Amino acid sequence: MDRIRIVGGRPLNGTIPISGAKNATLPLMIASLLTDQTLILDNVPRLADVVQLQRILGNHGVDVMLSGKRAGEDEYKGQSVHLSAAKIVDTTAPYELVSKMRASFWVIAPLVARMGEARVSMPGGCAIGTRPVDLLIMALERLGALIEIDGGYVVARAPKGLKGGEISFPKVTVSGTHTAVMAAVLASGTTVIDNAAREPEIADVAECLNKMGAHVSGAGTSRIVIEGVPKLGGARHSVVPDRIETGTYAMAVAMTGGEVMLEGARPELLQAALGVLQQADVDVSSTNQGIRVARNGAGIRPVDVATAPFPGFPTDLQAQLMALMTRASGTSRITETIFENRFMHVQELARMGARIQLDGETATIEGVERLKGAPVMATDLRASVSLVIAALAAEGETMVNRVYHLDRGFERLEDKLSRCGAEIERVSS
Ligand code: EPU
Repeated sequence: MDRIRIVGGRPLNGTIPISGAKNATLPLMIASLLTDQTLILDNVPRLADVVQLQRILGNHGVDVMLSGKRAGEDEYKGQSVHLSAAKIVDTTAPYELVSKMRASFWVIAPLVARMGEARVSMPGGCAIGTRPVDLLIMALERLGALIEIDGGYVVARAPKGLKGGEISFPKVTVSGTHTAVMAAVLASGTTVIDNAAREPEIADVAECLNKMGAHVSGAGTSRIVIEGVPKLGGARHSVVPDRIETGTYAMAVAMTGGEVMLEGARPELLQAALGVLQQADVDVSSTNQGIRVARNGAGIRPVDVATAPFPGFPTDLQAQLMALMTRASGTSRITETIFENRFMHVQELARMGARIQLDGETATIEGVERLKGAPVMATDLRASVSLVIAALAAEGETMVNRVYHLDRGFERLEDKLSRCGAEIERVSS
């Protein structure tokens, strides 16, 4: 299993190209199940989760083809992926595949919408909380699907097709909103989704669906209206930049000091996080090229932040902010309101000398003068990268174990950081 070795203490200076968003790519790939025509996605990041989803879609009969490199293309340019679900050969998504990646459960929506049936394994719990699917099931039921739970599988049936309906989510859910939209585009009649998630990835998927011939309006707001159509066609769509990758590198620069251009990043996708960095005394500015982040000399000011659905501060940047605040000049408070158990990084940061106290959903972080490198490991993607951020500023060597978590969501992390001056390398064993 690969590990990442980091020797801390070097500032970051240079340019980091931002990849396409993992959390837009996954539902966009799943949307290919809605049509028998080819969907071409550009700016697709090279991630383990993308490869895993190719496997899952392949099992349903989707042909996935990756374009080769073009002359003059730089190594950081995203891939172009052609997905063709001309014939769906299997409407079952088995446990062995779904259990590896929770988002693969979302295939249930296009499968039942297009084929009238789907049998998808329940994803089960995961490291950051219980993560149920009750609201996804509720959404499908509102569109007329008959749902049964059978042997750990959710079986959804709509032999005469889905029918538009009203879906009002009692709680904001990204997975619920993706499911509702993907099911409603092929339902007969109008669907109205209230209290929809407003994350930029929802709007990106809706934009792609509209290119495929769907009628989705209001995506990116809390009320989405969908006029169902009988059939969707092919389209070509470029994946939105990854706001979590952007925020992660912004926090890394804030941690080490230096100045980095986050190339291709779009500030409107992460205003709340950029605002928090400014409160912490980090310089943030936008240019045509992307977002410039710098900290030269100034200390890190402590902050008080609670995670919230978009446009609030994202839960997917909570661990990274906590790593940054371990070096603040004073006491910070970070409250996690989305997932009940997303604090696995706390123990590992403590191994590096961080002082963090947990009280229910709130962490109190007392900034320390210095962190010290240590062997660490984490059990989820964002927690792992928070350890990388801490290691970049720690004295001595840190070995981050279980790198496969990082590979799920960060493309060429060690290349991107080392070209800005970090001492970081992958150690294969
Ligand atoms: N929830 C329910 N019932 C449901 C669905 C969700 O109670 O049926 C709860 C969840 O347990 C959670 C809250 O609602 O407490 C929000 O969950 P949501 O559905 O919004 O999250 P998700 O769709 O499962 C996506 C991202 C996560 C990100 C969250 C929140 C993808 C593939 N995953 O998850 O990303 O943290 O939204 O923004 O888009 C990551 O990339 O590391 C990651 C975990």
